[in-house]
Amino acid sequence: MALQVELIPTGEIIRVVHPHRPCKLALGSDGVRVTMESALTARDRVGVQDFVLLENFTSEAAFIENLRRRFRENLIYTYIGPVLVSVNPYRDLQIYSRQHMERYRGVSFYEVPPHLFAVADTVYRALRTERRDQAVMISGESGAGKTEATKKLLQFYAETCPAPERGGAVRDRLLQSNPVLEAFGNAKTLRNDNSSRFGKYMDVQFDFKGAPVGGHILSYLLEKSRVVHQNHGERNFHIFYQLLEGGEEETLRRLGLERNPQSYLYLVKGQCAKVSSINDKSDWKVVRKALTVIDFTEDEVEDLLSIVASVLHLGNIHFAANEESNAQVTSENQLKYLTRLLGVEGLMLREALTHRKIIAKGEELLSPLNLEQAAYARDALAKAVYSRTFTWLVGKINRSLASKDAESPSWRSTTVLGLLDIYGFEVFQHNSFEQFCINYCNEKLQQLFIELTLKSEQEEYEAEGIAWEPVQYFNNKIICDLVEEKFKGIISILDEECLRPGEATDLTFLEKLEDTIKHHPHFLTHKLADQRTRKSLGRGEFRLLHYAGEVTYNVTGFLDKNNDLLFRNLKETMCSSENPIMSQCFDRSELSDKKRPETVATQFKMSLLQLVEILKSKEPAYIRCIKPNDAKQPSRFDEVLIRHQVKYLGLMENLRVRRAGFAYRRKYEAFLQRYKSLCPETWPTWAGRPQDGVTVLIRHLGYKPEEYKMGRTKIFIRFPKTLFATEDALEVRRQSLATKIQAAWKGFHWRQKFLRVKRSAICIQSWWRGTLGRRKAAKRKWAAETIRRLIRGFILRHAPRCPENAFFLDHVRTSFLLNLRRQLPRNILDTSWPTPPPALHEASELLRELCMKNMVWKYCRSISPEWKQQLQQKAVASEIFKGKKDNYPQSVPRLFISTRLGTDEISPKVLQALGSEPIQYAVPVVKYDRKGYKPRSRQLLLTPSAVVIVEDAKVKQRINYANLTGISVSSLSDNLFVLHVQREDNKQKGDVVLQSDHVIETLTKTALSADCVNNININQGSITFAGGPGRDGVIDFTPGSELLITKAKNGHLAVVAPRLNSR
Ligand SMILES: Nc1ncnc2c1ncn2[C@@H]1O[C@H](COP(=O)(O)OP(=O)(O)OP(=O)(O)O)[C@@H](O)[C@H]1O
Ligand SMILES: [Mg+2]
Repeated sequence: MALQVELIPTGEIIRVVHPHRPCKLALGSDGVRVTMESALTARDRVGVQDFVLLENFTSEAAFIENLRRRFRENLIYTYIGPVLVSVNPYRDLQIYSRQHMERYRGVSFYEVPPHLFAVADTVYRALRTERRDQAVMISGESGAGKTEATKKLLQFYAETCPAPERGGAVRDRLLQSNPVLEAFGNAKTLRNDNSSRFGKYMDVQFDFKGAPVGGHILSYLLEKSRVVHQNHGERNFHIFYQLLEGGEEETLRRLGLERNPQSYLYLVKGQCAKVSSINDKSDWKVVRKALTVIDFTEDEVEDLLSIVASVLHLGNIHFAANEESNAQVTSENQLKYLTRLLGVEGLMLREALTHRKIIAKGEELLSPLNLEQAAYARDALAKAVYSRTFTWLVGKINRSLASKDAESPSWRSTTVLGLLDIYGFEVFQHNSFEQFCINYCNEKLQQLFIELTLKSEQEEYEAEGIAWEPVQYFNNKIICDLVEEKFKGIISILDEECLRPGEATDLTFLEKLEDTIKHHPHFLTHKLADQRTRKSLGRGEFRLLHYAGEVTYNVTGFLDKNNDLLFRNLKETMCSSENPIMSQCFDRSELSDKKRPETVATQFKMSLLQLVEILKSKEPAYIRCIKPNDAKQPSRFDEVLIRHQVKYLGLMENLRVRRAGFAYRRKYEAFLQRYKSLCPETWPTWAGRPQDGVTVLIRHLGYKPEEYKMGRTKIFIRFPKTLFATEDALEVRRQSLATKIQAAWKGFHWRQKFLRVKRSAICIQSWWRGTLGRRKAAKRKWAAETIRRLIRGFILRHAPRCPENAFFLDHVRTSFLLNLRRQLPRNILDTSWPTPPPALHEASELLRELCMKNMVWKYCRSISPEWKQQLQQKAVASEIFKGKKDNYPQSVPRLFISTRLGTDEISPKVLQALGSEPIQYAVPVVKYDRKGYKPRSRQLLLTPSAVVIVEDAKVKQRINYANLTGISVSSLSDNLFVLHVQREDNKQKGDVVLQSDHVIETLTKTALSADCVNNININQGSITFAGGPGRDGVIDFTPGSELLITKAKNGHLAVVAPRLNSR
């Protein structure tokens, strides 16, 4: 099948495996590569691949339109310079295969269409070549695809990086840490079925060869309130459902659990235990397997599951009020399981759940809790147990990921690649303390982003020696300060409210805020708002004008959540736990520590500052994730939602900064390489410095001075339209170049082929000529030798056989014999025979004889009996007449036949008279009377015993052979003959003179029949015959000119016979 390829708008060449099945494969790096710029021509349909090339870069609408065009074509990635913008496709696009990974390995960022792997590879190569730590910051709102992107990046590194010399399992551990962390830290929310409810920063360590050798994870602020409460349509953390759904019967029995999420109050709040997109059972298997990969022993797994189960049991602890309205535990069964699973004393736990221990003036006092307080304490315990277990889990994974080679010298040369997958900006209907923290985190990251982007931009301009033009952008530092500033910041005020003695409530906190920061432009409350805005603000709410938009926070719960208090006796109980994980989570030193623990907000602030420091110390790369719709559906592009995200991700700002100077920049080498065909001086090669080449090129293209700047290593083009014009010119030029290249290539190809064929032909020719020449030479040599031998042999041909003449003699013999074969006589009459050499005379004679015998034998075998008889008769005729009678030679070629009369010519009476005697020969004859020699027509018949003379129907004379004494004929050419009959027989009338036209035939037959061959007389002059008793007649023969038979005067019969020269 012919290879079919298709150019898709991203600029990818894809191979269509089967025309009817739309299975398309991207060609690997060894396939055809089409540069990103080449897809610029498709920009009308699929938009630009780098927002920087947007003509109207200040227009949000143009930005969104570009995103929409690309999204419609399933092109989910677009750059803003080096920043990757990704839109969640909510469908499997099959663009993360091993083949795709290979395609993006080792290629320049702009050579291939935008992709996550392009960022991954660029970062990795920078890490290896520059040996600088790198950080990939992935941001975006919940469900935008941050976690998926992180996983894909990890997968890329795990699959494409070389394996470490030792500890190859670290790659598996890095990958397998994900399902475990997701099981414990992710949950289904309204926005995302697999929403990360914690922030994650993961370091991957690479050795000097670029192999991953270790890792470390930092987690941020797990949303632990989810353990005890979920909004409608949301779930608790996945692990609870996975355990109930997938856990073995035996495990569940041991943990005292039922396989039904509805039985657990902590799992029913959201009323959606089952989610179609989640398969808890198979996920459980993945998690169980992953736990073993990341070094969990069976005991540790049991301990961990005991804690998970104990949280579920805690949720089912019920209280009842006694007479004093104090809470009493009523769920004995749950308490029993809790005691066992957590390894704590039952009484102690029961008391801790229903009392609060206060230490006043060194004295411990137990104060009973009412129903509400007891439920609060129970939930606080559940949250603390779960969140601390999560922190322990992260620690455990870190121990497993820690490079085992930390002591080796190569450790010192490791570089680190950080992946930040942190919760994105969140705006809900009701926003609380968690959203406040999350959004603060995003403010910090945005600030870092602006700072670093501007910085790097500035650095590039400086490095290239181009004047830096300040960019107008919104610096969100003012909002960060509003939140984190000492004394005046919201966190400080919150902490102060939490710590101050007296009746501090969420509302007093709000008042304090109003007092302290009322003049801040980004802060608003009901009280501070103007008439119109006030309507949208509740009395217990404050509003922050974040860089990404306004968010209204409800202060309810702020103090509690910030304090994150766990009653002392609950802590004591947990510190006494025999569950090894719990005892690590609840350290006894915590009890004796008089210092008040840091509030949650402060802890979070500190960890963020730390994170910012970590990120600042690394080379940053950015992936900005966008969620296309809230329905988690593919192909839906909700413009309002996207505009909002574009705004709060600061993408327009990012673009403005990037475009502030120049829309496009490229190294001189790359620019020249791409466009050199547009200028005759630079095409096909430029021998000088690339920068000079570019100068010549752009002069030729007619760039105006304001359109570009020449840096030290790069050209900077200010407007996209300049680039597009160049690109369009290239497209046109390409067509003609393609034709030229094609023609040149075809010419070259066919010439090569022709030359190959020619070379081959010459080779064959010369070989063949050589062969022919050699053959000819050999033949000549042989001929000369033969001639020489023949001559020498000829000279000595008469000498006795000796080496000198042996060849000649043999040759003469052989050639005689060979020639003889061709010159043998053709028939028995052919008497020719080649002359033999002297040595072969005898042999020749023998052969000749042999040959003749053979011919005779063959001839004899071939003749028929009739012919044999004919020949025999002819032979007899020859014996009798040859050389004796003149007309014999004329008879030779005429065949003898058995009768010269037809059966109807012989009278039946004659036949009757002959009786049973057969007629062997019949011939018409003329009889001459004995007296007057009158000729009379008669028939002569031969029977086996007699010659019969017939006249018409009468037998005139019968001459028995016994009475036939002889036959006489003349030697002339006449046809007369005389039958001599015995005289004694009186019946006989005397000799008979007859004439037959076939005299030789008639006489031969008669002689044979009568057996009187020797009695035929051939007379010269005359014949005497007996004419009757006592009367003899004479016939005189004389030669003459014509036949004449007359009675002569002397009474003789005179016969004149013509002379024939045949005798
Ligand atoms: N590149 C992608 N290809 C296909 N589907 C994706 C891709 N990215 C995200 N998704 C889909 O979107 C869902 C949400 O993605 P993800 O969990 O990564 O979001 P998130 O940004 O991490 O959200 P959160 O902040 O809630 O953790 C995924 O479960 C997956 O179904
Ligand atoms: Mg996530």
